[in-house]
Amino acid sequence: MSTVILGIESSCDETAAAVCKDGQIINNIIATQSIHESYGGVVPELASRAHQKNIVPVISEALNAAAITLQDVDAIAYTQGPGLLGALLVGSSFAKSAALALDIPLIPINHMQAHVLAHFIEDPKPTFPFLCLTVSGGHTQIVRVDDYLTMTVIGQSKDDAVGEAFDKCAKLLGVGYPGGPRVDKLAQTGDPHRFTFPQSDIPDLDYSFSGIKTAFMYFLRDEKRKNEQFIEDNLHDLAASLQFTLIDMLFKKLKKAAKQEKIKNIAIAGGVSANSGLRKHLQEEAKKHGWQVFIPKFEFCTDNAAMIATAGYYQLQAGKTGSLRDSPMPRMSF
Ligand code: KG4
Ligand code: ZN
Repeated sequence: MSTVILGIESSCDETAAAVCKDGQIINNIIATQSIHESYGGVVPELASRAHQKNIVPVISEALNAAAITLQDVDAIAYTQGPGLLGALLVGSSFAKSAALALDIPLIPINHMQAHVLAHFIEDPKPTFPFLCLTVSGGHTQIVRVDDYLTMTVIGQSKDDAVGEAFDKCAKLLGVGYPGGPRVDKLAQTGDPHRFTFPQSDIPDLDYSFSGIKTAFMYFLRDEKRKNEQFIEDNLHDLAASLQFTLIDMLFKKLKKAAKQEKIKNIAIAGGVSANSGLRKHLQEEAKKHGWQVFIPKFEFCTDNAAMIATAGYYQLQAGKTGSLRDSPMPRMSF
């Protein structure tokens, strides 16, 4: 008998559902909330409302695409945190109600661990131990992964996440939201060495990305005093130089971590791992250092439920299930 897991993701601005049969992802349905674009960022209240509207259709679509009904589901994996409380509540409430009605196990998932486990959705899968640079809109982490459920954060941002730096600087450039992909696109035809921005210098394997955002803001202000059209005249070079600096900062600590842990299996995960410059740079560094690298497909970089269902599969195998008493954890860590 096969085991069917329904995965539900609702931590930020994507409502997503996926069906996993014996560890194989059957489908991966995502409803992206475009409403936030006009506000230049995710508005938590609007995100919760959109999740509420989307959750039933998204789950129905995932079940239909797998040619099953809710009665065929053996366990429900859902994002417990970290994320926006109101958004998490929608997914967890649905998961709990369905699990109660069907009398099946609930599997609470840590969203950041799920980003790492996105590498086990398809081949080639990394071998343990490996390091994962998990880079998203809310987190920047270097994770040592010893097993599916044995992960240690060995370095992380002390303030803003790198995705936040992309998004906030993109806003200063006036290129809209979501900023990361727009900076990425502009950077492809820009000169990455045209401008330099100061990099934070903090100890160990940790990061700080709040300084670059401030430095970028003052740099633009000063240049605009000299030339009102400065941003428009230099948009591609600004995007490329900003992206180059952020990637350089990420790799300085990643290289240090690889050396310290003596690990050559290196993976990237999270929304910012969709960045074309970051993916290219990883390949170049791999050649230099003899790393074996793992880069997820685009659809598994940004938020999705396939990674939640996959994490659920490994947790269920390890007997790590939750209960109806579990609450969403907006600041969940591991
Ligand atoms: O993992 P994710 O979808 O959601 C969170 O868990 O936060 O990551 C979203 C972040 C945003 O900051 C977005 O701008 C960034 O990932 N992002 C990118 C790219 N695609 C998404 N950043 C740089 N380049 C991209 N191509
Ligand atoms: Zn995420």
